[in-house]
Parts: sequence; structure tokens; C-alpha cells
Amino acid sequence: MSRAKSAILYTVRMSFPISRMRRLRRTESLRALVRETHLAPENLILPLFVCPGEGVRREVTSMPGVFNTSIDELLKDAREAHSLGLGGVMLFGIPSAKDERGSEACSEQGIVQQALRAIKREVPQLVTIADVCLCEYTSHGHCGVVEKSASGEFEVKNDETLELLARSAVTFGEAGADIVAPSDMMDGRVAAIRDALDDAGLESTPILSYAAKFASAFYGPFRDAAGSAPQFGDRRSYQMDGANLREALREIELDIEEGADMIMVKPAMPYLDVIAAARATFELPLAAYQVSGEYAMIHAAARNGWIDLERAMMESLVSIRRAGASMILTYFARDAARKLG
Ligand code: PBG
Repeated sequence: MSRAKSAILYTVRMSFPISRMRRLRRTESLRALVRETHLAPENLILPLFVCPGEGVRREVTSMPGVFNTSIDELLKDAREAHSLGLGGVMLFGIPSAKDERGSEACSEQGIVQQALRAIKREVPQLVTIADVCLCEYTSHGHCGVVEKSASGEFEVKNDETLELLARSAVTFGEAGADIVAPSDMMDGRVAAIRDALDDAGLESTPILSYAAKFASAFYGPFRDAAGSAPQFGDRRSYQMDGANLREALREIELDIEEGADMIMVKPAMPYLDVIAAARATFELPLAAYQVSGEYAMIHAAARNGWIDLERAMMESLVSIRRAGASMILTYFARDAARKLG
């Protein structure tokens, strides 16, 4: 080491003793004073699964504390979400019948459309977001219209799907959704939905685009909850390859050009770098989705006594905020809001 360098090190050591970084960690009040990242209930959006029937509250096996509920029960959750000060709820539907083209996604009498009307009647101030996708409604479980060849190969048809997604979004907007959120990953869907909403007089309905949605193993438990696992093949021809950051930025850029009002990265924890890059690159409100598998993992480890549930929950949510997400969609929304409250 040069003499000059060792002299500098010596001076630094003398003027900053060993406790330099620890001084501000000494008490919780000091830690709170210098904390850089904050979580609030209004940053959190609770996903809810609505199904037909009455008095139904069925727990999803792989997601403790998450339920399929009929509309009467859903309203209880909606009231609670509102009283906890959550930013909103995201609605997913479990239809009474599925078919090749996911017809119930576009029906005024669809389960989510009914649920939206009920929430708007009973808890009008609660922000409602409708997930726009066909996979919960199609018999084959893919997010769009599928064409199968005789040899068994299949293709999810982009442009045929756009028309159905746009129709679905309009029925959600008409039923009172405050925001529509396309999660299918077809090309051009934001523009198609924007046009259709405007034509229907729904110019003030914003679009939250699942702009960078990766083909992920972490969606497993959701597909249990929504009964939406693909019956054949997988989603890799439309959802993104988990290896690609630059492509994610391109996806987001295109959605913004097409008229997205808010953008989302999904999943959250395995893609914190994508969230950070999106935050640094774009000005729109940015959401991140802490998906079913992220939630299930934390619960499973906690059930085994391997990690502390509450601490892991809060740490995971803070990490997503720190990466740059303004809003977090999370199945922990209620528990976290209670803890923050
Ligand atoms: C619908 C949709 C999915 C999720 C949100 N919207 C499933 C999928 O793409 O398979 C996943 C959410 C979660 O795992 O919590 N396309």
C-alpha cells in the first residue's frame, strides 16, 4: 500500500470510530427517523376471487387466508378493505361455466360484472380494479383464443383475442370498475381496450397494464384459486422470458405509447431489478404484483416454523417498495394494513 493511501485510512479510522454506522440504529425511534422507505395501507391492493352462489367462503388450499367467495361474502371483504384504508381491490372471477372463447368474461351478467355492481352499490368509495384476461373463463385455460392444429400444436391467436378483451373491459367499465387491468400479454391490447372504452363513453376509465408479466412458476397457487391452469402447453409464447430485462422495458414503453395510465411488473420479488429499472425509466405510477407463489412460500416456511410470518411479510413488502413500486398487489394487503394501522 502506498504511504499516501495508508495515511488516509489512518485518518479515516481516527475521525470515524467503529460505531460510525451504528449510531443511528441504536433505538427504534432513531431507526424510524432515518428510515428511507415507508409502507402505507393505501399502497396495497388486495386481490379477491369471486365465485357464484351464496354464503360461499372456500379457502384456497395452497394460499392460507385467501378465499373463493360468493358476492355476499365478497362484500364483507370489500367493506373490510375499505375500513383498513387499502388502496383498492383487484377482482378475479370464477365463472359458472367456461367455454372455448371465455364468453362469461364479456357478459353483463358475468360474475365479476355482478360483483363490481354490488361493491359500487355497497362500498362506493373503494377503488375497484378488474383483471382483464380470458384464462379464468376459457375451457382450455389459455389467456386468449386458441387454434389447434391436427398435429396437436396450438397457437393463441393475438388479434382474435384483442376483440374479446376489449369487449370484456367495456363490460367491466360499465359495471363500475374504477380501473381495468389487462393481464393477458397479447400485443396491442392496451390500444384495443383504450379505443373500445372511449367508444363506449368510458373515457375516464384508466388502464393499469400488466406491462412486464413474466412466464413464472410462481403463479402456481393462483391457478388453483382461479382454476385457470392451461389444459395443454404453457404460456411462454405470450408471457415474457424471465431472463429479459431490456425486453421488459420495451414492453412497458409500448404499453405507454398505446395509452396505459399505470404500469405493472409481475412477479415482484424475483424481478426487483425490473421494478427498479422501470422506476428509473418511466414516470407513470408503477405497480408490482407479489404473486400467489411468493405468498405461498412465505406461509409454507412460516407454518414449518422456519421463518417468522409477520417479519417476512413486512420485509418482502418493503423490499418491493424500496425497488420503486408505488403500489403493491399482495395477498398480504389486509394483514399488512392491520399491522401498519
Ligand atoms: C391471469 C392472471 C394470472 C395472475 C394474475 N392474472 C395467472 C397467470 O398468468 O397464469 C397470477 C397472479 C398470482 O399468481 O397471484 N392471466
